[in-house]
Order: sequence, then structure tokens, then C-alpha cells
Amino acid sequence: MLDDSNKPFFKWFVGGKTNIVYNCLDRHAETSRRNKLALMWEGEKGEFRSFSYFALRRETCRFANVLRSLGVQKGDRVTLYMGRIPELVIGMLACARIGAIHSVVYGGFTVEALHERLEDSHSKVLIVADGAYQRGKIVPLKSIADEALQRAASVESVLVVKRTGEPVNMESGRDMWYHELMVLPIAGNACHIEQMDAEDPLFILYTSGTTGKPKAILHTHGGFMVGTYTTLKYVFDIHDEDRYWCAADPGWITGHSYIVYGPLLNGATSFMYEGAPTYPYPNRWWQMVEKYGINILYTAPTAIRGLMRYGENWPNRHDLSSLRLLGSVGEPINPEAWKWYHRVIGKGRCPIMDTWWQTETGMFMITPMPCVALKPGSGTRPFPGVVMDILNEEGKPVAANEEGFLVIKEPWPAMIRTIYKDPERYVQQYWTKYPGVYMTGDSARRDEDGYYWVIGRVDDVLKVSGYRLGTAEIESALVSHPAVAEAAAIGLPHDVKGNAIHTYVILKTGIEKSDKLVDELRAHVAHEMGPIAKPDSIVFVESLPKTRSGKIMRRVLKARALGQEPKDLSTLEE
Ligand code: WTA
Repeated sequence: MLDDSNKPFFKWFVGGKTNIVYNCLDRHAETSRRNKLALMWEGEKGEFRSFSYFALRRETCRFANVLRSLGVQKGDRVTLYMGRIPELVIGMLACARIGAIHSVVYGGFTVEALHERLEDSHSKVLIVADGAYQRGKIVPLKSIADEALQRAASVESVLVVKRTGEPVNMESGRDMWYHELMVLPIAGNACHIEQMDAEDPLFILYTSGTTGKPKAILHTHGGFMVGTYTTLKYVFDIHDEDRYWCAADPGWITGHSYIVYGPLLNGATSFMYEGAPTYPYPNRWWQMVEKYGINILYTAPTAIRGLMRYGENWPNRHDLSSLRLLGSVGEPINPEAWKWYHRVIGKGRCPIMDTWWQTETGMFMITPMPCVALKPGSGTRPFPGVVMDILNEEGKPVAANEEGFLVIKEPWPAMIRTIYKDPERYVQQYWTKYPGVYMTGDSARRDEDGYYWVIGRVDDVLKVSGYRLGTAEIESALVSHPAVAEAAAIGLPHDVKGNAIHTYVILKTGIEKSDKLVDELRAHVAHEMGPIAKPDSIVFVESLPKTRSGKIMRRVLKARALGQEPKDLSTLEE
């Protein structure tokens, strides 16, 4: 089952033939689940749409035929850039059905982030929405994409999903409307499913690493399928009659694994909501839990902390008795937020599954199961079959309650296979510190009961409102502004967001510092990378602490900002 002849390029289910979409759709559409709801969706304005397994397969097939007619073939990359709408799910499944590799770019990213991902993946097709609703406003996704496309050459066709109906530029010969293509005779209801090898790529998903540009994490049809199916089934104990809501965004791994693939593989009914938790009022989520009878809710600590601020009256106005199980992901959940979630939302009845995992792991790795005794703030222990440890600098397991590097010691089915087009970086990034051991980039400790307590990243990755960002990306967005000579970004603790982004900027000679320039630089980062990357503060400085080899010492900046003494300054240049 496992082929480890070329470590760390592990293979799983070698020789197995499958297509994940067959198990997500056809398997159910041909049986008693044919009329069961696969996807329920509510828009920010309150519209409702739903798809039975039969209907979701039909829409997927139709769109897969459209993609084939545009010349998309097995192995081609297709980028999707949308808000949380059903067409994003249909688009991902349609790609997978014909063996194309999807690359979803989160709708909160903007021009340069999209451009970089289009270019690196060499995507042939971009599927984009005209816009997305966000807190009553419209994010002009198509015009952001137009700007990114001026910088990216590989894209031949742009398929535009009408969501807002706002006027957009349609470039003839390149841009086509999704709804017009979907009614053409080429979009038949049946679509031959591409037979894939278990190890054939399913998708790439860009995520931030320690240095440089975001890297494309590659997942496969076979292993990803087994990992997401199994973990969702056993951890969330999902049943046929459940209504399950993962409130993440499909543009991140949580959405890939646990909005799209995991639930469909399990034949579950999955709910997706387009908007923000507090719009127009802080009861929006609780209203929907009641309205749709949600049984399982999976979200991030930052959302809980954000909702907590508005007090208990908002949730208490709603009947939340349908809830049976709660989940948390994305960053350590502080015990205060855990207890509020447990008491106010779960009414003390619902266990909280605090799932630790990563884009690279594809599936839950450290997680409780409903039968496990919980401790607020701990994900308890590794999922069965997952072998993890906490090591010190020398690679020796640490004693109970000592902090160390969190590592994974044995391969697992849904693991990252490589960094797309950069296998060396894959080896270097994850497998070199301790040979044969996967470095997660997190630090953790293990208590006397063997429970894991994840502390946080030990590298230059930030978790801002649950979103994973690299200091390098924020810095390069700053430096792309004509006034900036050099920049450094660090994360500092923030009550709601987890991390707040603080930056230090050296201006080019002759440029005057001003509050106006601060605003301009913040807006520039939001334009290039996305509003989530907008620095909370910008401080103009004359120099930055660097090593003798010229690397910025962010830990020195961080210690200084926190009023601490920086440790070990031996490598600091004068
Ligand atoms: C952090 C998100 C503590 C961790 C699925 C990891 C967590 C990074 C938890 C991966 C958790 C995720 N408790 N920390 N339950 N879940 N993390 O790739 O630092 O966006 O390395 O995947 O999020 O972020 P990513």
C-alpha cells in the first residue's frame, strides 16, 4: 500500500485506479442518496440554493464537458478565483473529473497574489466570478483578475460566473460567461470520468512557507481521498441525517478537505454560507444554525473570539439545540474561547474537536474523537495511525511538558507529495532538519497524559484571523511600492486575530515620512496581496537588525516590540 522506495517522495495505493469525484458524486447519485442534498448554500443577501447528489453530479458533468471543449486535458492546471458560491465547488469537481489540476486562489487575495499563482501554476484557464459580496459591498473579482492577467501570459480562456451582475469588462476571444456555456449543446449531462492513478495529482494549493514566494502543495486522488474520508467520518462522527457546516473558505485547505471532498465522500449534507459571521448582525450564524438545523459546526478560534465580543445575547436568541458536535481549526484555541464555544454555543452538550493539521497534511493529524476526554486548548492525541513526536534541537524527544519541535515520524495517506515544480524545496523545507522526519514548523509540548498542546509557528509564518501568511509576502508587497527601500514584517499577539501584522519600513532616500504615506502603503499591500495582509502598523526606521549574511532578524524586532530582551545576538551585525 505504501511505497517508500524513494523517500521522502512517498507513494500510497500504488497501482490503484480511481477518480475522487466518482466516490464524491457518482457513487451516491447512483444509489439511495440520489435525492439527498449534497450542498445547501445561503448567500449574504439571504438567497438559498441547494443541490441533490444527482443535481451536483449533473452540474459537475456539464461544466466538465465545457472545460473539455475548451481543450482542458488531464494534467492541465485551472485556477479558480471566487467567493464562497456553489460554482466554486462545481468548478473544483469538474476539474478533478477530467483529471485537470485545480488551483483555488482565495477570493480575499488580490492582484499580485493572483498573478503569482497563475504564473507559477501556468494555468490555461481561469474561472472567476464577476464579483463577491462582502459585508454588503462588492469585491470586484473580475477587474482584479483583469489586472493580474495583464501580468500573466499563460491563460487562454477566462470563464466568468455571474454573481453580482455588476458590469464587467469581457475581453473578446478570451472571456466567456459560465451561464452561457452551461446551456450549450457541448455541456451534456453525462461526462466520461477520467480514470486516474491513485498517485495522479488532484490539486495544488498555494500556501506560505518560511521564505520566499508561496509554494504549491500538491495532493493526489488516492491518498487525499482516503485521508479526508476517514478523518471526517471518525472525528466528526458524521451520519446520513446530519447537516454539517464547515464555515471555512473553499480557497484554503480546510475548505478543500472538509467543505468539498470529505463531506461528499461521506455522502453527507454540507452547508456553505457566502458571507461574514457578523453581517448584518452578530446573530447571522446562529440564525442559520437554527434555520437549517445544523448538527455539526466547524470553525476557527478567531471567529469564536470575534463573536464572543458581542456577548451571549446574540446566540441565546436562537434555538441551537440541533448542534451535536463542534470543531475548531487553524490556530491554538485559547481556553477562554474554548469554554465560551462549549458553554454558550454547545450548551455544555457538544464535544469540541480541536483539530490540528496543515495544508501539507491534507487531513486532521492531532485531534480528539467524540469518545475522548477533552482538555480545553489541547487537540488531545494523534489520529489513529498518525505517528508524531516533539523533539529538541538535537532531535531527541523532549520530556513531558517541555517545549520542542512538532514532527511527524511516519508517512500518512493524505500527505503532501511534493511542492509543484520544486521537489528540492519540498525536501529542504520539510525533511532536512531531522532526516526522515517531517518538520511541521510548529512548536508544542506534551503533558503527562500524552496530550499535545500546540504553541504556534516557529518560523516566519503568521496566522492572521486563521489565514496563513508569510512575512516574506507582506514584505515583498511593501517593497513593490516606489517609496520603499526595505521592509520587515512580524506577527504580534492580537486578541481576536491571533496575530497582528507589524511592519518596519526603510524609505528610499529623499522620501519624507508621513501619516499619508502610512495609509498609502497599507492600501498598497491590500491592493497587491489582499485586505487580510494589510499591516496593522507601519513604523519608519533608518535600519533593520540583520545577520552578517544580510538576513533580517525578525525575532530581534519581535522581542523589542514585546519589550523583551532578544536572546542570542551573536549573529547580529553591528
Ligand atoms: C496552525 C490549516 C493549533 C498550525 C488547517 C499549523 C493549529 C498551521 C491548529 C497550518 C490547531 C492549525 N491548533 N494550531 N487546531 N490547526 N494550526 O496550512 O500552526 O492554513 O502549522 O492549515 O495552522 O495552517 P494551514
